[in-house]
Amino acid sequence: MARPSGGSARALYLACAVSRLALLVVLMFLFPAASQARTDARGAQRAGIAVTDLSGVLTSAAAGARFNVEGRVTAVGRKARKATLIAVLRGTGTSERVARRVVRKLKRDRARRFSLGVTLPARGLPAGSYRLRVCAQSRGRRSRCASRPLTITPPYVAPTPTPTATASAAPSATATATAPAVTATATPPTGLVGGETVGDRLFPNLGNTGYDAVGYDLALTYQPLPFTAGNLAGTATMTATAGADALAGFSLDLQGFTVTAVTVNGQPATFARFDAVTPGNDPEAHKLRVTPAVPIPARSTFTVVVAYSGTPPEIVDPDASSEGFLPTSDGAFVVGEPMGSMGWFPNNNHPTDKATFKLSMTVPSAITVVGNGVLVSSVTSGMSRTWVWNETHPMSTYLATATLGFFNVSTKTDPDGLPYYDAVDPSAGTAPNLASEQTVISVFESRFGDYPFSITGAIVDIAPTVGYALETQTKPVYPGPPSVSLIAHELGHQWFGNSVSPARWEDIWLNEGFASFVTELYGESQNPADTTAAYYNSVYNNNAAGSAFWTIPPGRPPTAADLFAGAIYSRGGATLAALRIITGDGEFFQIMRSWATDNKYGVVTTSQFVDLVKSVSTRPDARLDEFFQDWLFDADKPTITPANF
Ligand code: ARG
Ligand code: ZN
Repeated sequence: MARPSGGSARALYLACAVSRLALLVVLMFLFPAASQARTDARGAQRAGIAVTDLSGVLTSAAAGARFNVEGRVTAVGRKARKATLIAVLRGTGTSERVARRVVRKLKRDRARRFSLGVTLPARGLPAGSYRLRVCAQSRGRRSRCASRPLTITPPYVAPTPTPTATASAAPSATATATAPAVTATATPPTGLVGGETVGDRLFPNLGNTGYDAVGYDLALTYQPLPFTAGNLAGTATMTATAGADALAGFSLDLQGFTVTAVTVNGQPATFARFDAVTPGNDPEAHKLRVTPAVPIPARSTFTVVVAYSGTPPEIVDPDASSEGFLPTSDGAFVVGEPMGSMGWFPNNNHPTDKATFKLSMTVPSAITVVGNGVLVSSVTSGMSRTWVWNETHPMSTYLATATLGFFNVSTKTDPDGLPYYDAVDPSAGTAPNLASEQTVISVFESRFGDYPFSITGAIVDIAPTVGYALETQTKPVYPGPPSVSLIAHELGHQWFGNSVSPARWEDIWLNEGFASFVTELYGESQNPADTTAAYYNSVYNNNAAGSAFWTIPPGRPPTAADLFAGAIYSRGGATLAALRIITGDGEFFQIMRSWATDNKYGVVTTSQFVDLVKSVSTRPDARLDEFFQDWLFDADKPTITPANF
């Protein structure tokens, strides 16, 4: 089974779950305004259109932040086919539209769930208290709106250079070439920069706005030490596109390391590190703030090169598991879900900002480096060897790897021309189950469409202290020889999670629930008696009502520590297994295939999945809404089952 172990940590969190819930209830009574959407009285009773159940609004955000809000829209008393949702940010003297979206297929008196992408203005927004108000318009009918408080935090102002903070040499990929020290002559402009959060409820400090990363190109050298982190040094180049506003500055996520130089479009830039403990579930914000010598024009493509070196830090995630560039006996096991990638290269660390990924890593010549995508070259020079890997499909940063050590490599190409690259640590033996990769891929291809990437395979390392596998894009990484189920789980993620990626971390069941379900589907293909219906029954019947298992709704994990809780996997997987029984195979596999193909290489939210199910299935939309509410969002044992749907 693919249970990532957060082991003792998860047990601790489960033990705390009841007390956390109690605390939440107390807080909801004490601060009703903060925990509930306020609805305007105007027009509430009359026939019209109502927005209710608004959620996802950040309590505080920086100018330029992007986030999704969710809610329900109902055509009260009269049928309306569609409505236009408009979100407005209101404060003293400000009323600015921040999102707009048309919602179709409304039915009389039936609530329809919506998700709205909000982008706060990047400039001209004074810090202070605001409300985000969402209203619906439909043929001029009155709307009952819903709103939530939102505090705009003071903007980050680019630092004025001091003699010591002044930019230094242009970074260089080669250790020996030292460019002459250049002093930034122009006074860096001060002003607003992209926000330092993408507004993820579970990880309020991850990601940056103001730009869109297009590609990363790392040129690194690593000197392994047994069981201890060695030195990692080199440059990280990010190509990105500026957003709708010119950028006087921007930031990247990076934890640890010494940054020695930064250039933007080839010109030295000033930079500052920011390591602060801030409130929220992700306790720490780690930013590298860059101020280019001249502002980056709006919508232009720019290149930033960061030269850095140091010992990769262990990143401890909210469920207490370890991530990042983790030392093994002979190298490093490199994993980053949800946030470990900032522990080895500067990036926009959020799954919504997908980018291509090129890795050049120089190591002692006996060591193999396995990155994402295809191997471009592997050249020995003296005592060292440089491995170059290239992933040309968009990838979320958490899926990056550069796992290295002693490996036996075997390669093959299947009859469809898909190459396999299997790297196995000699101490892991032969990892015989890797022989099942090809069958797994062909079973999934028959159900969900072509394998979405150019290469597949496995990295089988020995990393007992990590204890979990990760679906690193194209070639999953395993902490020991994997079972066939684990292989199916991680390869299933290539469709669900890697090609079709979660827009927010709370959409994690779209990864883990799907991977769990498709593992069962693979099992059924090999043994028809092992049905996904039997899997559904075991999840439903083996967890009593009232047990802690049901307190974590897969569609809305309460905290960041719950991201990889068992229920995200198996209650999420059982939701799909139940849906299959409810819709029948014809509709169900049409849904799964459309999900994988329509959203290929994109990012998605749960409400998009619900919308897809309703558009394909002939079962009543309202009942399907109730089913998903019961299975994905309610914190107790569902009562809607395939038998009583
Ligand atoms: N996505 C991985 C899997 O397929 C689990 C990653 C767990 N990560 C963590 N930090 N606990 O099972
Ligand atoms: Zn998984």
